[in-house]
Amino acid sequence: MSVSTSAIPLAETLRSRRQRLAEQFDRPVLLWSGQPSARNFPANVYPFRANSHFLYFAGLPLMNAAVRLADGQLTLFMDEATPAEALWHGPSPGREAVAAEMGADRALPLAELANQAADTVTLGVQDSATRAQQQRLSRLAEPSADLTLIQAIVQLRMQHDADAIAQIRRAAAVSIAAHKAGMATTPSARTEAEVRAAMEQVILGQGMTCAYSSIVTVHGEVLHNEHYHHSLAAGELLLADVGAETEAGWASDITRTWPISGQFSSTQRDLYDVVLAAHDACIAAAKPGVEYRDLHLLACRTLAAGLADLGILQGQPDDLIEQDAHALFFPHGVGHLLGLDVHDMEDLGDLAGYAPGRRRSDRFGLGFLRLDRPLLPHMVVTIEPGFYQVPGLLNDPQRRDRYRQLVNWERLAQFADVRGIRIEDDVLITETGCKVLTAALPTAAEQVEALVN
Ligand code: GLY
Repeated sequence: MSVSTSAIPLAETLRSRRQRLAEQFDRPVLLWSGQPSARNFPANVYPFRANSHFLYFAGLPLMNAAVRLADGQLTLFMDEATPAEALWHGPSPGREAVAAEMGADRALPLAELANQAADTVTLGVQDSATRAQQQRLSRLAEPSADLTLIQAIVQLRMQHDADAIAQIRRAAAVSIAAHKAGMATTPSARTEAEVRAAMEQVILGQGMTCAYSSIVTVHGEVLHNEHYHHSLAAGELLLADVGAETEAGWASDITRTWPISGQFSSTQRDLYDVVLAAHDACIAAAKPGVEYRDLHLLACRTLAAGLADLGILQGQPDDLIEQDAHALFFPHGVGHLLGLDVHDMEDLGDLAGYAPGRRRSDRFGLGFLRLDRPLLPHMVVTIEPGFYQVPGLLNDPQRRDRYRQLVNWERLAQFADVRGIRIEDDVLITETGCKVLTAALPTAAEQVEALVN
């Protein structure tokens, strides 16, 4: 059942994570893996994904299990498969074997949880059945009640250890192959769905899953577009935001935008190069100590300057940003934390993404910023600036009135063949700078064209 691929044995990595948690939080912690949710009958379930906090300390994607961490000891709670489960699902490792794999000191049946949970603190899982059980047996570390466990886990999961980085690198390598397959299949594909299938085939073929619902669309202006029915037409751009997740749950997240014909039009190329300039500027500036918010503002400034050079925006970049004019075309943040989840630890709201004492801005151009912390070595973040023409924003009469002096609407109309462009890479912060884990997938327009052709 091993899911580790690093040179470091899984149990040793997990022990080290648990030890570091124990140094910061001295009460017993109970973490639950969660259980699948049924569709229309109990044996037909939605795809199961173990809870990420459980995965971080227990390492294995177990269904319906829990671990108790207390006094440096780890107890695993899980039931052996029943004969009926073995009949339908095949044999599975027993409790003791699983406990040995994760380095647990004891292994008990789930029924024992009722006797072992009273003094424990936990973090809520997503599925409602397990959550109800958690609320009955353990105390949820809610921000309003008790932040200590959350803060300790955030601190640990924010800066990745060697095993985690090895896992993210594996996921990134498979995502790169998936994007190359997507580009190569585009000339012969008829629909978005066919390109998506070619990309996900690579991920599934490697025994991985998708870290989030793939976005493969000619309507790149719909930021999280999850429809795949449009046909592909020469002259359009295809935006693909697709990332693999390893067997142990570690994510990657890549976006590329390419011309369906294999060649960008001059207007597409102009805007592509503006987005790429913002992407490259952020990566050049990423290093420990730099505020992620400043990377976001650097992306905004680079985009605003590029759009002003093209005659779409009118004014000085800093003034344009001050008035959120750039956000008409770049309404989201420049990226997020990446780890066991694609938006890592967003189950904790902004407690991971925002440094203590910081809150989301209510400004249009900053409100979707998901990460507002100084960068630290061994963080992995995405850098993903974009340019979008969102009808709901650009045709809003109030916005058109507000920005009538700052946007040259006639000039913008000449760029009608661009709906959405995003360029996204996964960036590991090192001791002195950063390393782009997804750099093997080209971003330069000519190289992207060559991959499509
Ligand atoms: N890649 C999808 C997202 O970042 O939301």
